[in-house]
Amino acid sequence: MTSTKTGHSFGIDIGGSGIKGAEVDLNTGEFVGERLKIATPKQSTPEAVAKIVAQIVAEKEWSGPVGITLPSVVKEQKVLTAANIDKSWIGVDAQELFAQYLDQPFVVLNDADAAGLAEVAFGDEVARTGSVIFLTLGTGIGSAFLLDGQLFPNTELGHMMVGDAEAEHQASSAVKEREGLKYKQWVKRLNKVLAEYEKLFNPHAFIIGGGISRKWDKWGELVGIDTPVAPAQLRNRAGIVGAAMAAQQNLRP
Ligand code: BGC
Repeated sequence: MTSTKTGHSFGIDIGGSGIKGAEVDLNTGEFVGERLKIATPKQSTPEAVAKIVAQIVAEKEWSGPVGITLPSVVKEQKVLTAANIDKSWIGVDAQELFAQYLDQPFVVLNDADAAGLAEVAFGDEVARTGSVIFLTLGTGIGSAFLLDGQLFPNTELGHMMVGDAEAEHQASSAVKEREGLKYKQWVKRLNKVLAEYEKLFNPHAFIIGGGISRKWDKWGELVGIDTPVAPAQLRNRAGIVGAAMAAQQNLRP
């Protein structure tokens, strides 16, 4: 196994469709070498997913600390929710689970929290200043609350009721795909969700990440709320980079 280089760390982002890992240079926020992606197993049980996490670490010959994200509330390393992965994750002690598969120290945290931290470190100045709500739009909607770059973890805005349904059931990018919505139709829904968040939390800015933020030029100008809304800078690198940062800092939100 290669030894860990100073300032390098390793992040793994567990999502509904893929489990992705890479070594990260924390001086730059860039990947070192290729990112490795393995499809999330259909039955995304803790054991099946943990095996893949171990496989990624082994294939990448990484022996230092690892940060792992989950699309779940992770409080004191206990997994409390499982919206877009197998329900058997609920109640799992993440330290106990991954310790059976990994030889090195690791931390586990919510995916959107990790991505938010990465934006603070390597994204736009906007992310570091004042009260900011960072959102990831993907299979679900993830959120990270940031105050001058400090994280208030496990906020779960995707599950807030907006009208008669949860926000992520109306405006995630998965919903756009599933219902074949045009950008205009989808952003109309997103605006409704953002307006509700704005009304309740009044942040200085929203930052929007997730795969769909890469197409910002196609829909950004349709976003219409009073608060400034900016696209994330790290695109789909954010989860892995944030996980790697958490590992280095031994962060356990
Ligand atoms: C989960 C969150 C997660 C988000 C994005 C939501 O369904 O409840 O924990 O951050 O999806 O993956």
